[in-house]
Amino acid sequence: MTLSNYAMDTSYIEYIDLPIIPKELIPEAKAIIDLPIWGFDTDGGGYHKADNKYSTKKISMTVKDWMVENFNFDFVANFVVFNGAIPAHKDMRTSAYNYLLDTGGEDIKTTVWQGEISKEDYESYTGYNERITSGDNNLIALQSMVIEPFRWHKLRTDLMHSVNGTYSRPRVMISVTPIEYLSFPKNPETAKKFKVWMETWDKE
Ligand SMILES: [Fe+2]
Repeated sequence: MTLSNYAMDTSYIEYIDLPIIPKELIPEAKAIIDLPIWGFDTDGGGYHKADNKYSTKKISMTVKDWMVENFNFDFVANFVVFNGAIPAHKDMRTSAYNYLLDTGGEDIKTTVWQGEISKEDYESYTGYNERITSGDNNLIALQSMVIEPFRWHKLRTDLMHSVNGTYSRPRVMISVTPIEYLSFPKNPETAKKFKVWMETWDKE
């Protein structure tokens, strides 16, 4: 067996070649944290919102205008704030293009997992973070990495993925969903919510 057989796969989390957003266009992380909650939740169920672990904020016009001008694909985007570890879950999108503005801590790792977790674990995630880190779960890590800030990366979000580590402050990012990566919501209520969000996004 060659050395490459032991290397972790690198196709689940990868840096991508999108233009870097000029820093002067981006609000301070603190200002983003203080914004009111806004946006469509592309995470299935949104269960981790219950504990204020995760919130989405309206992206600033300067950043939005810059992205519209510099990206040659249709997309929607939010600022996203994590207040703590995000347990394994799937999104309602196959992949996301993310751009970290503050990592939230030095050792915080994003992991994409093979496998599923029980419905009970999925719905009541208290303690699940600990079980992931202790290996007491049914998931096998496909790829795990400490992602650098201010670099675009593509993350597979139709597989279980989590963000774990020691948070010394909130983790703040820009999350872009190319329209082609949206798995269209089956639930009519969600579809309606999504339509309203898209219309609002287009108008502003
Ligand atoms: Fe997610």
